[in-house]
Amino acid sequence: MGTLLEAKQVSKEYISGTFVKNRNLALKPISFSINDDSPSITAIAGESGSGKTTFARVIAGILDKSSGSLRYKDKDINQMNSEDILNFKKEVQTIFQDPFEVYNPFYKVDHVLTTPIKKFGLAENKSDIDEMIISALEEVGLRPDETLGRYPHQLSGGQRQRIMVARAFLLKPKIIIADEPVSMVDASLRATILEEIKRLREIHNISVVYITHDLTTAYQVADNIIVLYKGQVVEAGDVENVINKPVHPYTQLLTDCVPRPDPDQKWSKTSGDITIKSRIINGCNCAFCNQNESVESDRKIYEFNKKQIVSCKVAEKKKICANEDISAYFTKKK
Ligand SMILES: Nc1ncnc2c1ncn2[C@@H]1O[C@H](COP(=O)(O)OP(=O)(O)OP(=O)(O)O)[C@@H](O)[C@H]1O
Ligand SMILES: [Mg+2]
Repeated sequence: MGTLLEAKQVSKEYISGTFVKNRNLALKPISFSINDDSPSITAIAGESGSGKTTFARVIAGILDKSSGSLRYKDKDINQMNSEDILNFKKEVQTIFQDPFEVYNPFYKVDHVLTTPIKKFGLAENKSDIDEMIISALEEVGLRPDETLGRYPHQLSGGQRQRIMVARAFLLKPKIIIADEPVSMVDASLRATILEEIKRLREIHNISVVYITHDLTTAYQVADNIIVLYKGQVVEAGDVENVINKPVHPYTQLLTDCVPRPDPDQKWSKTSGDITIKSRIINGCNCAFCNQNESVESDRKIYEFNKKQIVSCKVAEKKKICANEDISAYFTKKK
């Protein structure tokens, strides 16, 4: 078909304070798109406060953008009629960082599963609803008899996150935007849930935007990755390139900080020094190298190769990206 979701130069500025206004441009203009001819998993990585959740919420249409445009199936999100909005809400599902936000403590967990089925008219009767819920729970490895009929606090954090994954897939969406969907579960379960997300996207042809600060899981599940720093893209492209051969000093810093169980399997040349100061490139004004808050950083992005783009002086000999859409430098599904 073609482009499903298209974000063009979207940004987000938070304004707070009553008398003195504090402005925080948490997401600098960014263009990104998702096509339905090659469903893929895109990781959004970066340290805490880098703008990952802001990006997720803006492209999910949950948070008003400060500039740019957001279109779904060629229709502007702000100009959709109620039918299109309902369709957008069905086809673009979100899994939040903290599932407590989603659960109402006074309702049994069944409620978060029955509500969307009813809202989107996906089942004719009660037995169809039950059947859908049971198969969705089983798809994410949960036992319905141990899950249904319970209140949110009677389940573990991992079970609650799995229910959110089940809920997202239940609606057979086209896109899932998952903000740290496994942050609350232990390492072994984390790997299992991520494998399930990968498997479900294979079966149902769903594109996933996977937000994380954990490069190991990004490498494990994603085809492509966008690395954010202070709300700006510093490096993006094919996950193999970006994580195995990072070019941007900030990505190098991130990969060097990841403990590697096998010393022979290196993600990058480790210099041993993992301080920010040691990585800054003199004379560079990119978001990372320019640590002077009062000076606006340079947003030029260079095409390091066909599958890797970098915003830093280290790549200045390369040509500036001709296409502002980052996804143009992504690898199609493997
Ligand atoms: N509602 C808000 N009002 C004002 N500032 C906000 C708001 N939400 C986030 N911010 C600020 O925007 C920046 C980006 O926040 P965001 O939550 O997107 O980061 P993040 O990368 O998701 O971090 P984390 O890994 O901790 O979840 C931060 O500086 C944060 O303090
Ligand atoms: Mg976040």
